[in-house]
Amino acid sequence: MHDAVLTWYSTHARDLPWRSADRTPWGVLVSEIMLQQTPVARVEPVWRAWIERWPEPASLAADEPGEAIRAWGRLGYPRRALRLHAAAGAIVERHDGRVPSSYDALIALPGIGEYTAAAVASFAFGQRHTVLDTNVRRVLARVVDGRQYPPASTTAAERRAALDLLPEAAIAPTWSVAVMELGALVCTARSPRCEECPLRATCAWRHAGSPPHDGPPRRA
Ligand code: ADE
Repeated sequence: MHDAVLTWYSTHARDLPWRSADRTPWGVLVSEIMLQQTPVARVEPVWRAWIERWPEPASLAADEPGEAIRAWGRLGYPRRALRLHAAAGAIVERHDGRVPSSYDALIALPGIGEYTAAAVASFAFGQRHTVLDTNVRRVLARVVDGRQYPPASTTAAERRAALDLLPEAAIAPTWSVAVMELGALVCTARSPRCEECPLRATCAWRHAGSPPHDGPPRRA
């Protein structure tokens, strides 16, 4: 299962700036906040402009919160810009301007939740953390649980299943981003392309005949 997904990712991954070899923890943090409620295509130009203008937390913290709101543009949910500004201030005060690497220090920052702390610890610092966004949750709901959609909010059972599947630290971050990409590109919410899926042979939902979700359709 791991090999199939990692091999698929090595040939299908989108080339996104926050995943590049020269990514910075700050760039990863900004991307994860922007990507939480906004699609990649809209995030990319705004992320580029943001990082060029504020290449590190200290430069954002020194600017007015209103500038962050303006630079947020049309990404939606502009309170995220204020949260990022507040996080930058705390990074300057508590961590000498460097994004901290530990999950506990990350989640203690204002506006940084469980998902973002795990994503930054994993993608920026190479640590072994489960990273459960809507894409990952949907893939695991289908492959592991045989359900079309995950529960409305993350459950302990999902966390356990994700941790059971998480490979060793050396490849855990790549595994997480690969499952995320599979959910974004193949195992999509409404029209999954199962013929193209590296997990089609192991998927419990497909084995069960792809039964529809029990109850009203859900956005995720
Ligand atoms: N790469 C890393 N994190 C991501 C995310 N949240 N959405 C899309 N691509 C990503």
